[in-house]
Amino acid sequence: MRVGVLTGGGDCPGLNAVIRAVTKSLINHGQCEVLGIADGFEGLMDASPRVRALSWDEVSGILHIGGTILGTSNSANPLRDAATLAQVGRNVKALALDVVVAIGGDGTMSLAHGLTQVGLQCVGVPKTIDNDIANCERSFGFDTAVATVTESLRRIESTAMSHHRVMIVETMGRHAGWLALESGIAGAADIILLPEIDYDLQSIIKVCQERERRQRYTIICIGEGAKESGQSLTVRERIAHSPDPVRLGGVGHVLRERLQPHLQSEVRTTVLGHVQRGGDPTPFDRVLATQFGHHAAQLVLGGQLGHMVTLQNGRIGSVAIADVANTQRTVPLDSPLLTMARDIGICFGEA
Ligand code: F6P
Repeated sequence: MRVGVLTGGGDCPGLNAVIRAVTKSLINHGQCEVLGIADGFEGLMDASPRVRALSWDEVSGILHIGGTILGTSNSANPLRDAATLAQVGRNVKALALDVVVAIGGDGTMSLAHGLTQVGLQCVGVPKTIDNDIANCERSFGFDTAVATVTESLRRIESTAMSHHRVMIVETMGRHAGWLALESGIAGAADIILLPEIDYDLQSIIKVCQERERRQRYTIICIGEGAKESGQSLTVRERIAHSPDPVRLGGVGHVLRERLQPHLQSEVRTTVLGHVQRGGDPTPFDRVLATQFGHHAAQLVLGGQLGHMVTLQNGRIGSVAIADVANTQRTVPLDSPLLTMARDIGICFGEA
């Protein structure tokens, strides 16, 4: 078999661990040739496709390294027009690819699903620091990002205490609040604001004012997709033709401007940005990514094409890519984590 491997969408720690596990499992099987495709689906969109053979040696020594040796793209859209789609179809045929292992988020899974129309068969592997892929309770990369944000919150807290400030820390996560929620709890945030729960400014003012009298500092952890009730989402930029056309960011600054006039303490914002996606994967993510890569190879060898690897109820399995394309897994409002956090006094900005 000829098996392509690509990484699509925003990078995250653990991608190299998946590439390594897929490639080694397939090479070990003895009947497979593995081709690395450059920069996600972009590598299949050019007149001369950008691919290279992946050998055992090339994928050795990369388990612990962040990013992706294959490169990635979160703006390439092979479905953008008929000519591009036809080019991808010709490349798949010319390369004699039996299947492509597409390691990516919901955008990549939607593209993988759409490409079946030009005869491209995919096996999906879920990755994202946002942890928002449907039917998958934990994507690799998330644990590392939670560790990074948690560490940042602890560092922010010591300076907040010293200066008696209200510190707002904005996390990534798009329209899902998993990253803000878990790192906010782990990093002892006083207020956590999520995309799933519109916040009420007055309730945040109340908590900050109470803390001004007692602790004299407040830590607010806000997901980039959060919004105040009645206000629109804070969009950083829009990118035409991209599978993910809206880039979020900046809501922490918006909140600072709204909050400052009501408080005596100085309010400051830190946008953590891409530091959350960088760096070496945690041991948890290395193991999960290796399990995902190994399972993807089993799906390829077992002919279960059109499926994505999943983790459900603690077990590795798979679902049809069609069932996860164009869907997102957000924090359910009845999540036990929310209930627990409320019970220990964390404010979610509810009216
Ligand atoms: O999906 C991963 C992610 O890091 C989101 O949390 C964030 O909104 C987005 O990618 C940022 O993308 P970019 O690197 O294109 O700014």
